[in-house]
Amino acid sequence: MRSPVAVPASTFRVTAASPNATQQLAERVAPHLLPGDVIALWGDLGAGKTTFVRGLARALGVPPDRVTSPTFTLLHEYTGGWLPLFHWDVYRLPGPSALADLGWDDYLSAGGGVTVVEWADRIEAALPRERLDVFLAEAANADEEAREIILAGHGPRWANVAAWLTPGAAQNEEPFAC
Ligand SMILES: Nc1ncnc2c1ncn2[C@@H]1O[C@H](COP(=O)(O)OP(=O)(O)OP(=O)(O)O)[C@@H](O)[C@H]1O
Ligand SMILES: [Mg+2]
Repeated sequence: MRSPVAVPASTFRVTAASPNATQQLAERVAPHLLPGDVIALWGDLGAGKTTFVRGLARALGVPPDRVTSPTFTLLHEYTGGWLPLFHWDVYRLPGPSALADLGWDDYLSAGGGVTVVEWADRIEAALPRERLDVFLAEAANADEEAREIILAGHGPRWANVAAWLTPGAAQNEEPFAC
């Protein structure tokens, strides 16, 4: 697990004991999402990236069973929730120019929804500086379902992500937060 930025603005670390717990963490992030937000998912095969996206989808009002890794198309768009969710999986991205061809910049600047990308390490240079990084890894010396998950918010937009997710830190939350 590695961080692309040496000193993230705001970090939150948790062990998710089950797929459901990973989804629930995503569901706690979702109420804070705004159009244009970018969530970068980092983690090996089977780490739980798509599972996290299912939690986001469910919280946004999109049936989570619609969420599958967009392996060959690279992008799935989920509409019908209270925000569009653009789900990228760039594991099989043929090259950097393919990202531009698929309209990556347009989705970020004018898509009006939330962009979430699996295998963020493959397009690190194309990621905006202001974003939420989510690192997922199997937890060492623990149950095989346990995942260590670190959220690292970069930039003013995500400066309070740790407070949003820390129990008892409600005084730091925005008025619309759950
Ligand atoms: N705590 C957990 N959080 C998430 N997934 C878990 C957890 N424990 C077990 N799993 C299982 O691990 C698998 C994770 O699959 P998932 O598709 O979410 O991973 P991924 O990181 O998207 O993989 P890929 O790189 O292939 O896209 C699922 O089978 C899920 O049930
Ligand atoms: Mg996946």
